[in-house]
Amino acid sequence: MKKIEAIIRPEAFQTLKDGLSAVGISGLTVTEAAGCGKQQGKKGVFRGTSFEIQLVPRVKVEMVIEESRLDEIVDVIIDSCSTDTIGDGKIFISSIEEVIRIRSGERGKEAVL
Ligand SMILES: Nc1ncnc2c1ncn2[C@@H]1O[C@H](COP(=O)(O)OP(=O)(O)OP(=O)(O)O)[C@@H](O)[C@H]1O
Ligand SMILES: [Mg+2]
Repeated sequence: MKKIEAIIRPEAFQTLKDGLSAVGISGLTVTEAAGCGKQQGKKGVFRGTSFEIQLVPRVKVEMVIEESRLDEIVDVIIDSCSTDTIGDGKIFISSIEEVIRIRSGERGKEAVL
């Protein structure tokens, strides 16, 4: 199993959610986040000292999926969230060892859906 963490523009979330539903992905975790990427943020001044960091609001969407669906889901994210401009976000992929549904004790493939 793989975990996909997508850091996206908040305004892209509903489109992504609909796109994921359309391919049968319903389990996900969403966190309001803030961050910065490759571009330097605007310069600000705090009590006479300039600072460089400007945090931009983002949404972090986490989903754990079967590895066989990874490319398909990544395509859904890119299709839903791309505007072809800087700041569209980023996707991080990592491996998950186990998933357990608390109610039933199901594990792995049975538990992830
Ligand atoms: N290397 C990273 N590690 C953790 N979070 C990151 C990283 N890069 C970007 N992020 C998160 O993703 C958000 C969106 O990043 P962003 O799309 O601006 O990436 P970028 O690398 O600057 O690409 P682009 O040039 O398209 O803007 C950031 O606000 C931050 O929350
Ligand atoms: Mg950026």
